[in-house]
Amino acid sequence: MHVIESPQEMHALAQEWRRGGHTIGLVPTMGALHAGHLELIRRARAAAGRVIVSIYVNPAQFAPTEDLAQYPRPRRTDMALCLTCGVDAVFTPPDLYESGHSTWVMEEELSQGRDGGSRPGHFRGVTTVVLKLFNITQPDAAWFGQKDAQQLDVIRRMVRDLNVPVRIHPVETVRDRDGLALSSRNVYLSDEEREIALALPRGLADAVRQPNPIGWLRDKLSATPGVQLDYVEAAQGRLCAAVRVGTTRLIDNVPLPTEP
Ligand code: PAJ
Repeated sequence: MHVIESPQEMHALAQEWRRGGHTIGLVPTMGALHAGHLELIRRARAAAGRVIVSIYVNPAQFAPTEDLAQYPRPRRTDMALCLTCGVDAVFTPPDLYESGHSTWVMEEELSQGRDGGSRPGHFRGVTTVVLKLFNITQPDAAWFGQKDAQQLDVIRRMVRDLNVPVRIHPVETVRDRDGLALSSRNVYLSDEEREIALALPRGLADAVRQPNPIGWLRDKLSATPGVQLDYVEAAQGRLCAAVRVGTTRLIDNVPLPTEP
């Protein structure tokens, strides 16, 4: 397994693979890999000749008040997991922004509201880094999780609008046994907070069986002690919600039933 820090070196290896007739699959991550990430990698491994996992905690998608400094970075475990999953190259640049960086990619419709409303500038950081990663790693296809449903929609729109020659594959949310969507941020939760956080997946699962899922879930989460509601919204056929439990922000979503 190659472990590469330099964008130039990563690009050269990708070009060499392409010239050799290999297809390239990319799984972009911020590390602290869990079974959700591993499912994306497994899908990429099954479909592409060469698999690249990028691990980069992208400062551009964190607001100054957010958890950039505390974000978990268990490098050795991440490397061991990638090796076990048959990854061909891990791309871990120390920094992807030259001083004086002044070019940004902005999607201006789907990035409004929900996480775009609560986290101003977040999606500008995501689209910019994802396009940079695509340019560096030259993938034929890339895998993204439904857990970050708005991110997936924004990236698909960027790829369509800017004619980026990369196929985007969505992967359904991987959950813990208790139903909580796996997230690198779950490590921030105390045992007690984790118990409280279960109101989110359980509420979503119950809400889609109600006549008014949005109103029902808003009421339910607002009335749950220890849960601070950020938003409940329907978008792209999914019921989406974000809450804060203690200082940890959690998002989740489930498909809405289609009208008969
Ligand atoms: P990160 O949060 O590390 O997630 C990397 C990928 O894993 C994303 O596509 C995310 O949707 C997916 N993922 C996370 N939890 C998942 C789960 N429980 N089930 C299935 N997929 C899951 O998302 C990012 O990083 C960044 O914004 C990134 C795209 C890498 C750009 O910096």
